[in-house]
Amino acid sequence: MVDVEVNPWGRRYLMCPPVHFEVAYAINPWMARDTPVDADLAATQWEALISLLADAGAEVEVLPPEEGLPDLVFTANAGLVDGDRFFPARFRYPERQGETAHNAAWFADRGWRVEDLPPDTTHEGAGDALPFGDTLVGGHRWRTDATAHEVVAQRTGAPLCLVELTDERYFHLDLTFCPLDARRALVAPHVWDEAGRRAVEALVPEPLVLTPEEADAFTANSVVVGRNVVMTACPPRVGRQLEAWGFEVAVADVGEFEKSGGGVRCLTLALDVTLSPARAYDTAPTVPPA
Ligand code: ARG
Repeated sequence: MVDVEVNPWGRRYLMCPPVHFEVAYAINPWMARDTPVDADLAATQWEALISLLADAGAEVEVLPPEEGLPDLVFTANAGLVDGDRFFPARFRYPERQGETAHNAAWFADRGWRVEDLPPDTTHEGAGDALPFGDTLVGGHRWRTDATAHEVVAQRTGAPLCLVELTDERYFHLDLTFCPLDARRALVAPHVWDEAGRRAVEALVPEPLVLTPEEADAFTANSVVVGRNVVMTACPPRVGRQLEAWGFEVAVADVGEFEKSGGGVRCLTLALDVTLSPARAYDTAPTVPPA
């Protein structure tokens, strides 16, 4: 087997306990207003996810929950980390806009430089923006504007690979794309525009293409920690390929959160991502705050 470099990020995550989690509004096709959520079960599932991440070798930091912000648990949407810099999200829907100040304060208090994106754009953080190698893959249409990705690419210097999401059930990129290592990713090109498909094809040498059924189970909404993958779902065919590539798979049951259109990846935000190319740090290396 060829040795393929593991992702240089993905060992530190931010998560928010589901104390105030509920399905109080419907802003994506998976949500039905007032769907009952079992609070105890959600808490159990969330704790179990932390254990699986710890077993995989990741560290988890905890964001305090806040009443009235049920989707704060989906920390992937808090914003985008670039070394010691944090771009807070600009949410598309008013229902989530209250999260921004809470998230920005957490990062500012811990020494991150908080940098706002232009007020006339929307950007839902790492949910729509994932690095593959040095490239930033940016999903747009339902929640994040292509122009917001362009601003981030310009400010970080990261090359941008834009993917338009064509099916509203896949309203965030992380439901359709998961970088596995330097050569591989889980991909769901059937919900991407033609240009996005071609761009990712050129970027990812060995894609694992999900069938519509596999993608519907939130298979791409997974967290990768070195050679460990913590998944929302792992259909048998996908599991066999991941194992053949040397990955160890764990599945976390996050069924209560799926009622809100979110899985494992949505519940986590990687804190150790650097988007700016190394050359930007030639003279002054930037270390993410610990
Ligand atoms: N209910 C949340 C919303 O509609 C789900 C967020 C899912 N997050 C993600 N990174 N895909 O915004």
